[in-house]
Amino acid sequence: MAEAGEAYWNPAEMGEDRIAAFDEMRSKCPVAYSDRLGWSVFRYKDVVAVAADPATFSNVRVNHGESAPAAMRGIPLEFDPPEHARYRRLLMPLFSAGRMKAFAPRLRALAEKDLKALTTGDPVAVIASFADPFPVRVICELLGWPHDDWRFIKRMSEDVRIAMAERDANRMAAAHRAWADYILPVIATRRAKPADDATSWLLDQQLDGQPLSETEMVSILRLLLVAGHGTTTASLGIIIAYLAANPDRQEMLRSNPDAIPSAIEEMLRWSSPLAGMQRTATSDTEIDGNAVTKGDRVALMFAAANRDPEVFPDADQCVFGRSPNRHLVFGSGIHSCLGSPLARLELKIVLTELLAASRRFELAGTVPAVDPASWPTNDLQDYSIIVTR
Ligand code: HEM
Repeated sequence: MAEAGEAYWNPAEMGEDRIAAFDEMRSKCPVAYSDRLGWSVFRYKDVVAVAADPATFSNVRVNHGESAPAAMRGIPLEFDPPEHARYRRLLMPLFSAGRMKAFAPRLRALAEKDLKALTTGDPVAVIASFADPFPVRVICELLGWPHDDWRFIKRMSEDVRIAMAERDANRMAAAHRAWADYILPVIATRRAKPADDATSWLLDQQLDGQPLSETEMVSILRLLLVAGHGTTTASLGIIIAYLAANPDRQEMLRSNPDAIPSAIEEMLRWSSPLAGMQRTATSDTEIDGNAVTKGDRVALMFAAANRDPEVFPDADQCVFGRSPNRHLVFGSGIHSCLGSPLARLELKIVLTELLAASRRFELAGTVPAVDPASWPTNDLQDYSIIVTR
């Protein structure tokens, strides 16, 4: 791990206690370079500053010096202003308060059904039996796609993740072809027979007076299918593990369900589901005295910023009811999470239903650690709980 003033670090050496590794980097070497990630910024103020400057730090994916072609980029995440704003404006109504309110009963029904896998009274693996499938099924429900496709969607998303992490343009192109082969027939079906779902809604939308092209439709749907579940799976893993290990906190929420939403925010600040996201420098610049060269990648370490003692008193404590709680779990700046209303609703409904359906739940085994292979999410290794009804 880094010594004070040393600007090099090796993310592969973080081990299972990632949070401790991030804490150490933030205090000893807050702007660090690694072969794998390029620059990484760990302090809250640096993460916010980089995120606030999309002209200098671009979201267009770059592979070996070349910008990925537009058709291979996810809309809106991998676009910069002004295109980003056009797409984001178009998509915002999908996650409006009204749409979320109307979607809540369907989400609750899905949660009640899927939570049965956890509440058997026997030790059950949380990630495999619930936290993996549920968030994918939620996206399928929103888009109007078959729930049974969840394994396929998960596998295809994993392919994209690996191609991105390894910056393997050929693997990425193959993954994108596979996604298009999967998505285009669904679009054709909905075009012929619209339904009450987000896919049909998208087909009805116009951008500058024109309907969306097939390429734009595929880019949007692919991003929603890829971006919407890995982070939610990681969040469910973190929240359920924390409460299983802390029965007093569990009891507190069971007797006061109104406190659930703010407790979720704090559990995810304290142990964040998404380690970081990257940008690419569009010109030579500097961060806190470190020379950043045009084309360098810069990782915004949300998980480290969320425990910055400059911003959060007792940052390493999980303080239910913390206020203010200006965490960066959902990012910062123009790209901050578009799906956060859905993510928050999903987590609130699951936790409310799980607490109501149980007298207590506890770990059947040891406290889970982060899977060292996971990136950019902080996925917990699978663990089991026993739910007493
Ligand atoms: C707890 C779960 C989630 C977490 C922690 C999370 C976190 C984030 C973060 C940190 C970003 C910013 C990325 C960046 O700055 O580069 C982001 C962007 C995004 N997220 Fe989420 N997310 C979650 C769930 C979801 C869900 C459920 C959806 C949709 C179904 C979604 C859709 C998106 C989209 C479309 C963007 C790109 C926004 C833009 O570029 O303007 N996310 N998310």
